[in-house]
Amino acid sequence: MQVYRSSILDFDTDGALRYLPDGLLFIENGKVKNLGHFDDLIHQASEQNIIDYRQNIIMPGFIDTHVHYPQVDVIASYGEQLLDWLNQYTFPTEESFKDPSIAEETAHFFINELLRNGTTSALVFASVHKTAVDAFFKVSESYNTRMICGKVMMDRNAPDALCDEAEQSYIESKALIEQWHDKGRQLYAVTPRFAITSTPEQLEYAGKLLKESPDVYLQTHLSENKDEIRFTMELYPDRENYLDVYDHYGLLGKKSIFAHCVHLQESEYKRLAQTQSKISFCPTSNLFLGSGLFDLQQSEQHDVATSVATDVGAGTSFSLFRTLSEAYKICQLNGQKLDARKAFYMATLGNAKALSLDHLIGNFDVGKEADFIVLDLESTPLLTRKYKKSDDLDELLFSLMMLADDRAISRTYIMGECRYTKESE
Ligand code: GUN
Ligand code: ZN
Repeated sequence: MQVYRSSILDFDTDGALRYLPDGLLFIENGKVKNLGHFDDLIHQASEQNIIDYRQNIIMPGFIDTHVHYPQVDVIASYGEQLLDWLNQYTFPTEESFKDPSIAEETAHFFINELLRNGTTSALVFASVHKTAVDAFFKVSESYNTRMICGKVMMDRNAPDALCDEAEQSYIESKALIEQWHDKGRQLYAVTPRFAITSTPEQLEYAGKLLKESPDVYLQTHLSENKDEIRFTMELYPDRENYLDVYDHYGLLGKKSIFAHCVHLQESEYKRLAQTQSKISFCPTSNLFLGSGLFDLQQSEQHDVATSVATDVGAGTSFSLFRTLSEAYKICQLNGQKLDARKAFYMATLGNAKALSLDHLIGNFDVGKEADFIVLDLESTPLLTRKYKKSDDLDELLFSLMMLADDRAISRTYIMGECRYTKESE
């Protein structure tokens, strides 16, 4: 058993903040054994087991619901919007993932980068190559991180070297599901890139995979960019709208996560809600590619569960702090508010719920997997100054949301094991 003494912050299932200024967190066999005030629980701990993080705040690890691991080297590519950005930068880079050694090296870098930023779980696009998915899951297994990943299915409108073929994409995805879904902490997502790069036949196969394995995930992109929507409707002229393309092939459901959703019609919100499908809001990506301003209020009013995500490499940061900060600014431009409590709820338990993983991760309920981060409240001179002048917790949290980044992550724990320590610690 290991016991941590610290300020401890998480959220209950209704999104209410729980804060222990001087708390004890008990971890046994990688899971939360107990949590409470120091004074109430100190008699259960023996002195030598206590690790002292009283200078810090312990929080559940962040969760990223949409990110591309082969796009580490695409980040910060100049000048284009979505379709040109894909053709000029992204597709050529993803071609190199045919080489398993490039895939493995990048997967290592990527997971390390997540941990440096306090992200402990993610829903991840691989490339079209089956071996790139194997490489990712192997690396994730070696860190014991809970990850969801899938082989990209794409059989048109991309370079030949990056296209599969409809039946082949089914066979390879099927083999990957059998090999990796629910193996330890690894989970599988059926991953048609988006409607533009799949033939109707391939989307049919994606639907077949979901029917045959109902507990795997579905991840794709939806309504990110106006030219993308126009092209999609040219390719699928019989469908009512963009979402209806995916709906027609049976791709909606409570384990289906649609990234972006910047330009949805009323009927698309309604259908997402009806099918309990989920949205990934990707603020830094939407701003970087000039895609548009996501409307959080609309998605909430329609009762569509909305998560937050980095979308690296169109997204410009692995940090959920940075992501929440840009989310705040997008809400401002829409005349909406996003307070820090709600933002940090989204990045932790809210995202866990969106991924149907809230029975396992997302807060410190007894029995949950112990993925958590130790925050450095004095990671920069400015944050130190803000921290010292903060009158209450909300002010402090909002300062972190606006100003913190990877430097504020002092340590990251996976299943109770410290897997990242900041160099200066
Ligand atoms: N739509 C289809 N593929 C992609 C991708 O790789 N990134 C983003 N942001 N949008 C996409
Ligand atoms: Zn994406």
